[in-house]
Amino acid sequence: MQKHGYRDLAKIYDLINQKKDYAGEVDFLKALFEKYNVETVLDAGCGTGTHMKLLEDYGFRCEGIDINKEMLDIAKEKVKGSLTQADMTDFNLKKKYDAIICMFAAFNHLTEPDSATKAIKCFEKHLNPGGILLIDLHNPKGNGKKIDTFGKIQRQMKWDYNIKTQIETSSVIFNVDGKKIEDDHMMKIYSVEEILDMFEKAGFSKSTAYEGYGFNPAKPTSKNLEIFAKLN
Ligand SMILES: C[S@@+](CC[C@H](N)C(=O)[O-])C[C@H]1O[C@@H](n2cnc3c(N)ncnc32)[C@H](O)[C@@H]1O
Repeated sequence: MQKHGYRDLAKIYDLINQKKDYAGEVDFLKALFEKYNVETVLDAGCGTGTHMKLLEDYGFRCEGIDINKEMLDIAKEKVKGSLTQADMTDFNLKKKYDAIICMFAAFNHLTEPDSATKAIKCFEKHLNPGGILLIDLHNPKGNGKKIDTFGKIQRQMKWDYNIKTQIETSSVIFNVDGKKIEDDHMMKIYSVEEILDMFEKAGFSKSTAYEGYGFNPAKPTSKNLEIFAKLN
């Protein structure tokens, strides 16, 4: 697990993700939450709090956890709900929620053996009866490189997926006004079947895998997977 991978990135995180369709993603979450009468939400790996903020604007009561203080410091400026620095594989907030979300590949950071199982167990403990869980996974299966820019920030990325280990290794260099920020990280690329199996073992009754922040069924080639489960 990379505890401090986002320490230097926090300040530029929202800038480099300015084109991400958080509003569209939150509309999908809202549709899901309305179906299951959700009022309270925990955002696990909430980062700088953008999903939380947009959900709060819709009237949901949200709280967030993240392992990185620097990300939470940015979130604090945006959200009303409480934020706790915590590891999603081992936390106890002593309360329960109607829904838990884990968005934008936060779960893929769980690369250590058993870390995914531990996180799902912690999520289950923090859900009310009938509560729902939505894990949004990154699902690449290849290698590549690209250079892009965000105003004065240039990003050079290289990524490599190892099919045997299911680990994607990325190396990213940001050039911010002549200053370099380097970010090397690993992500575990979980299959739908692995996650559904962990959900079942943790006592979730109903689970489905969607793609593209809508209600279309996931495919092995989906760019992102949104995996949903419900407690009895
Ligand atoms: C790609 S960011 C996504 C942030 C946010 N969910 C979003 O959609 O913008 C991944 C986040 O997961 C957090 N993270 C990684 N491992 C974690 C862990 N074990 N427990 C809690 N948060 C973690 C990172 O600190 C980072 O903020």
